[in-house]
Amino acid sequence: MDQKILIVDYGSQYTQLIARKIRELKVFSIVCPYNKINLKYLKSVNPYGIILSGGPNSLLDKKSPKINKFIFNLNIPVLGICYGLQLICHLNGGRIKRSKTREYGHAKIKIKKKSKIIPNEWINKDIEVWMSHGDHVTKIPQDFQIIAKSNNNIISIIENNKRNIFGLQFHPEVHHTFLGKKIISNFLFKVCKTKKNWILKNFIKQKSSEIKNIVGEDRVICALSGGVDSTVTAYLLHKCIKNNLFCIFVDHGLLRKNEKTEVTNYFKKKFKNNFIVVDAKKYFLNKLKNVTDPEKKRKIIGKAFIDVFNKESKKIKKVKYLAQGTLYPDIIESVSYFGGPTATIKSHHNVGGLPKKMNLKILEPFKELFKDEVRELGKKLKIKDNLISRHPFPGPGLAIRIPGIINEKKINILQNIDEIYINYLKEKKLYKKIWQAFAILLPIKSVGVMGDSRTYNYCCCLRAVTSVDGMTADFYMFSKKDLTEISNRIINNVREVNRVVYDFTSKPPGTIEWE
Ligand code: XMP
Repeated sequence: MDQKILIVDYGSQYTQLIARKIRELKVFSIVCPYNKINLKYLKSVNPYGIILSGGPNSLLDKKSPKINKFIFNLNIPVLGICYGLQLICHLNGGRIKRSKTREYGHAKIKIKKKSKIIPNEWINKDIEVWMSHGDHVTKIPQDFQIIAKSNNNIISIIENNKRNIFGLQFHPEVHHTFLGKKIISNFLFKVCKTKKNWILKNFIKQKSSEIKNIVGEDRVICALSGGVDSTVTAYLLHKCIKNNLFCIFVDHGLLRKNEKTEVTNYFKKKFKNNFIVVDAKKYFLNKLKNVTDPEKKRKIIGKAFIDVFNKESKKIKKVKYLAQGTLYPDIIESVSYFGGPTATIKSHHNVGGLPKKMNLKILEPFKELFKDEVRELGKKLKIKDNLISRHPFPGPGLAIRIPGIINEKKINILQNIDEIYINYLKEKKLYKKIWQAFAILLPIKSVGVMGDSRTYNYCCCLRAVTSVDGMTADFYMFSKKDLTEISNRIINNVREVNRVVYDFTSKPPGTIEWE
């Protein structure tokens, strides 16, 4: 893990994709908000290369986020992407101009000169890229060269070969820049001279000895929801510290049907008396009474969870650590929630809240991993496939899938719909093709006709998306046959529902969950 790339975040929605692409190339990377960068931090990270991300700001605004110029004089290679490129120019004597129209989407660039980050065979060829910018560079810094321009004559790649500083106006990290990974790969291996040394195989061994060293004979508690992240965390911890691990499962009454029983049966076998189930259904539902605002719901649930967890954990003596299944994307996202440049979209309830109140030290063994990597680890730890391949389930549970007022009756209806829907996907072997599927119980009723009678019942919406990491997603295209069968099964078996609709919104512009 020695050879790191530092990604300086200026709030681009694609920052995480840069990290992801670097990971796919088997190199380790760290994302840090621009305002946390200083010399001391850089020395502690000791990066092999620095990437300045894109971002929503304009350098033509005086208050736009910047960086101290010293980073260009450290002899560390720098790659600026979009806003990052403009920043390189701005800080080194170039000029930026606001474009008449924003350029967004596919574009073609022509490579004019040789560069370390561009394969020679691309010279004089048109390369398809993805642009997303409002400003553009009109004058490059003195000691730089233009490597490529777009068909619209926009400066698209610049470099200072001697100082190893590069800038791209387009986004090499997104899927639509087909050859983008090659550019990143050249930056990593030809310019920064990193090695491919991020290999998951060594992870369990490395982390286990780390955990044993840190924890010693002390006790650890873990909030175990039965989701992939917390399950794999608990298994790894148990492998290391055996009976000094205590797992707490909080039933907030917003789980899937039979989830409590299934999870309890499974984990009781593994963790025996160290698996503690807390029935906090009434506590949560009381607090949520008459609450309709999505952010309020999330905050209430987050706080209630801390209250319950805090109370239960006090019953276990001599606990020193709290283990959490925090993943890499959680950390990157949480940066934006606590002062980073990206806009807050939703408050994820399981990030950041627990420790301050509880005075426990935190163990987050997977905070450098993506979900698919954690799934891989789960397999290596021999966790049952149906736990590992589960679709993600949000911390606030069904509360954020019932827009409007939540009550027990609605929760029951949604649990029944969800069970039918998910069972169908499993039966037809569609479950694993879909990243996440669930139903939403809408707060409206509509008129229908069943048999010879008029009905006036609830309407539910089905959602199914494909995704790699939950940051962007596309709706899944079911066949008409599947949609018909699912809809029939729901309406025939859940008598409170007489209409089923399908959500065909991708993310962006929608989010995956409705609230
Ligand atoms: P959105 O709705 O933001 O969701 O597109 C992206 C992914 O995150 C899950 N999600 C959550 N997971 N606590 C979680 O553990 C939360 O508060 C939370 N909110 C959303 C969502 O299910 C999807 O997989």
